[in-house]
Amino acid sequence: MKERIKQLLDEIKGLQAINRDDLESLRIKYLSKKGEITSLFNDFRTISNEQKKEIGQMLNDLKNTAQDKINELKSNLESKVSEENKLDLTRTPDPIELGSRHPLSIVKTEIADIFGRLGFVIAEGPEVEDDWHVFSALNFPPEHPARDMQDTFFITRDPDVLLRTHTSSVQTRIMTTQEPPIRVLCPGRVYRNEAISYRAHCFFHQVEGLYIDKNVSFADLKQALLYFAKEMFGEGTKIRLRPSYFPFTEPSAEMDISCNLCGGKGCPFCKGTGWVEILGCGMVDPNVLESCGIDSKVYSGYAFGMGIERITNLKYQVKDLRMFSENDVRFLNQFKSAY
Ligand code: PHE
Repeated sequence: MKERIKQLLDEIKGLQAINRDDLESLRIKYLSKKGEITSLFNDFRTISNEQKKEIGQMLNDLKNTAQDKINELKSNLESKVSEENKLDLTRTPDPIELGSRHPLSIVKTEIADIFGRLGFVIAEGPEVEDDWHVFSALNFPPEHPARDMQDTFFITRDPDVLLRTHTSSVQTRIMTTQEPPIRVLCPGRVYRNEAISYRAHCFFHQVEGLYIDKNVSFADLKQALLYFAKEMFGEGTKIRLRPSYFPFTEPSAEMDISCNLCGGKGCPFCKGTGWVEILGCGMVDPNVLESCGIDSKVYSGYAFGMGIERITNLKYQVKDLRMFSENDVRFLNQFKSAY
């Protein structure tokens, strides 16, 4: 019996447990009702009285050692578990999926970048405007249809507070507060009272440019726009200017670019003409300069304005304007850009 006790003692001192199940089966093996140590206690009853004292002590020793060992293994396991649950600050984080820029932002930034290379700086103004900045200062006659409720969202009437219908109002703000030379690019959201469809929305985005200095000519305007068209749509792009009318420019023109889908041969997109219209432009009307406090005998200037949605459609062939404001990530995710 002594031999058996010594053997078990050695065995128990060397025990290891890798998990809770392991530990439990060790407890069962040695200390449960049918365990090895318990059965030695049962055998203890049969030994002679002279041996009882010595063996009894050995048995108690064995039982305590086993109990201590099991407790020790248990606390080891517990500290190991809490160690594993600790935050590991050295671990690389789970990658967060990057979002993509909105296509209108991509195109706006690209336009700003191109004109930035010609020296234009960004200027911004409020979306809620008054009649003077949006219409009167820009030479709109009192009966002009754009001033009608049908085109303009009014917030109050008399005094007229309204949502700007074009970013030309930013030009007014710049001309009344800055001295020429002025070279600004005004991107922003504008509002018009239109029925919403695939080709019209009650709000959209424009970029407007204004350059005022001594001796600014129509040739300067044309050259700047040609540079823009080639940078935006490719070196082979051609431009064409058609006479037009805007209250705030004289002369005024609309600019077409050669259709970038068919290369000018004619396709359904350009309705067979080979040209697509992209912007309005002209020389700033002297009346506008004067009403903004700029001497029209000393200074001249040009202005142009384009819809960002239109340019984006040309670049990416988005068929339905409403996609831009629906926030459908399946649509938005397709636009990856360096901008
Ligand atoms: N503001 C005009 C529009 O909304 C565009 C434009 C700007 C035309 C500047 C000429 C010069 O249509």
